[in-house]
Amino acid sequence: MAGKLAVIGAGLMGSGIAQVSAQAGWDVVLRDVTDEALARGTGGIEASYGKFVSKGRLTAEDAEAALGRITTTTDLDAVADADIVVEAVFEKLEVKHEIFRTLDKIVRDDTVLASNTSAIPITKIAAVTGRPERVVGAHFFSPVPMMQLCELVRGYKTSDETLARTRAFAESVGKTCIVVNRDVAGFVTTRLISALVVEAAKLYESGVATAEDIDIACKLGFGHAMGPLATADLTGVDILLHATENIYTESQDEKFAPPELMRRMVDAGDIGRKSGQGFYEHG
Ligand SMILES: NC(=O)c1ccc[n+]([C@@H]2O[C@H](COP(=O)([O-])OP(=O)(O)OC[C@H]3O[C@@H](n4cnc5c(N)ncnc54)[C@H](O)[C@@H]3O)[C@@H](O)[C@H]2O)c1
Repeated sequence: MAGKLAVIGAGLMGSGIAQVSAQAGWDVVLRDVTDEALARGTGGIEASYGKFVSKGRLTAEDAEAALGRITTTTDLDAVADADIVVEAVFEKLEVKHEIFRTLDKIVRDDTVLASNTSAIPITKIAAVTGRPERVVGAHFFSPVPMMQLCELVRGYKTSDETLARTRAFAESVGKTCIVVNRDVAGFVTTRLISALVVEAAKLYESGVATAEDIDIACKLGFGHAMGPLATADLTGVDILLHATENIYTESQDEKFAPPELMRRMVDAGDIGRKSGQGFYEHG
């Protein structure tokens, strides 16, 4: 399966989605607001294809052909004939709303509009369109060329056909899908990691075990590739605090109530790898 795909936003996620899709045979229009953003996006894609070629996982001809299937534009009207649009712009509802409102006017009636949002309810995004049944969440993971999961999220009105077409697209670019049947805050993946990080931070905060031992427990006891506190440092303690606060506000489920320690760490700027200090010190 392949066809015409439009990707809105050429940042980390959008460029990754464009990369795997072009490699799978999709004709991709990549749209961002500036030529610089587009150049950064395509530069990253070229470099990544280059790495796959040097490792023998892609031929130079296939890389070139895939690159040839990606066109870039700053003009949103250029995405009008897409079969599927995947939006991957900043995680701000107003920005996404503006895009979905415009897309709704310019694309065909049968075009699927997917959002790569990590946390915004799909129903809220769909509400500004006249086609909520054709709006769906397609939550890819970073780095897109390496991570196999795509979390498909049904909004309140998403149709079975939209879900099936989005699944077919994601599978055609090599992903394995899970389906989130109700548009709950945090979907499935962010709820799971939030619950684990909150409990790990509480155990650490109350002196039950060291950060190292909590992470070792998850790695050696459950086969996790990385422990929850190391994951929090990698993702950003601030990002996870925000995610878990959101889920707690919506669900009022105590297990998502973030411990005081996470708030104080964020207040103090100890947000993980990007600041040099989180649950661990990073050199
Ligand atoms: N970074 C992650 O690990 C990750 C994982 C899963 C999902 N997400 C979600 O994916 C989305 C994008 O995240 P990212 O990390 O790629 O962000 P990013 O900051 O790397 O890229 C966002 C891009 O969107 C562009 N943009 C902004 N407004 C635009 C508009 N009106 N039209 C076109 N382009 C526009 C920006 O110029 C930028 O290039 C967010 O919703 C985020 O929550 C991120």
